[in-house]
Amino acid sequence: MRARLERDFERFRGELPHDLAAHVREAYRIDLSARYLGFSLPHPIGKGSGQLSLNQEQLETDRAAGLAFVVLKTVIAEDAAGARAMSAWAIHETRMRVEKVHSGSGLDGWTVTWKGRGWDRSFDDYLELVRTAGDMTRSGAMVAVPSAKYHLPRMDQAFRESEYDHTTERLAVAWGGEFLPLEKDFSPTLAGDALADERDRILRWLREVPELIRKGAGGAPVRIALKLMNARHGEPFQLEMVKAAAGADALVCFNRLWSESRGVAYGGYDLSDRNLRTLEAVKSSGIRRPSLSGTGNVSSGRMILEYAKLGCESVQLHTFFQLPLSEYPATAGSRTQRALHALLFHPVSGLIAGMLDLEQSGRLQRRNGELRFLDVTAS
Ligand SMILES: Cc1cc2nc3c(=O)[nH]c(=O)nc-3n(C[C@H](O)[C@H](O)[C@H](O)COP(=O)(O)O)c2cc1C
Repeated sequence: MRARLERDFERFRGELPHDLAAHVREAYRIDLSARYLGFSLPHPIGKGSGQLSLNQEQLETDRAAGLAFVVLKTVIAEDAAGARAMSAWAIHETRMRVEKVHSGSGLDGWTVTWKGRGWDRSFDDYLELVRTAGDMTRSGAMVAVPSAKYHLPRMDQAFRESEYDHTTERLAVAWGGEFLPLEKDFSPTLAGDALADERDRILRWLREVPELIRKGAGGAPVRIALKLMNARHGEPFQLEMVKAAAGADALVCFNRLWSESRGVAYGGYDLSDRNLRTLEAVKSSGIRRPSLSGTGNVSSGRMILEYAKLGCESVQLHTFFQLPLSEYPATAGSRTQRALHALLFHPVSGLIAGMLDLEQSGRLQRRNGELRFLDVTAS
């Protein structure tokens, strides 16, 4: 199998097989099936919300590449009159810089420096994209899910429910189908904002927001993923946040770190180290928690497995889809294709190699002759 992996890695530099998961199952007897927000996925690799899921063309490129799922850019909620309490997050900024970042553990990774925030076009434009996402998901082409940021009050204030109601209802109608899948973003810029100074305030948001979104949908079922920020209150508080978010259907763990000095969000190994430490604490605490999707510096198949060992049933990447072309071993195709090639087939750092290693070391057993990705998350 190792020899076959070497051959596949070379062979697929120019083009990936049409059905990635079927190929991996057939060639290696590895079942990569994964889950996100109740959806069954052919494999665990998806795209996190951001600048790479702004339009239909990007969705189509990702579908063609064989990505398992995409989370659309975060829209800022509004009420029926178009008022937005979080309007400061809807700023326009196009310039992104992809940079190397040195981490505390000594490893070099990548980060994207960008001063923008949420969706900066009209809500109607966003609903158009949500319609496409709903159709794509139901046709089985690729799961694509909207993301929103709603009003978050201070302790002595009430939530602006009119924003929750209007935004959720319109998203549900645009999505169509029997239920609305939705991510609620608590972003790193929010973590860096004075609004997130108080721990009790953050915990109240996490406790109350899922219910407010469900109520806003007016009876239509909503599946809610809360994308948790890395708050500035230290690592034990991250565990408190996970406990407070028990009302969600899934958690995305955890969004980028906030640099106070530079006033920007960043990633790299500091981010994955911190996220994995927190997920370890969540696991050893034994608390009941929603299902998990990992995010942060996923840049190899081995990193996917680090998140999976701590319970993440899928992963959401952003930075790894933005690297200079020379960083990918593939020689042709979209960045999504090149990223999938490295993440799955790299003979040393890829997901298949990592799962074969887990088998070899006795940490993962075949069932009915197959290794299963989801068995890693359950162990
Ligand atoms: C330029 C940029 C824009 C982003 N915008 C959003 C956003 O609008 N909503 C959100 O939930 N996450 C956003 N993210 C976070 C990513 O989805 C992802 O969770 C995070 O960057 C960690 O993954 P990575 O290390 O693979 O980049 C953004 C990230 C980047 C780099």
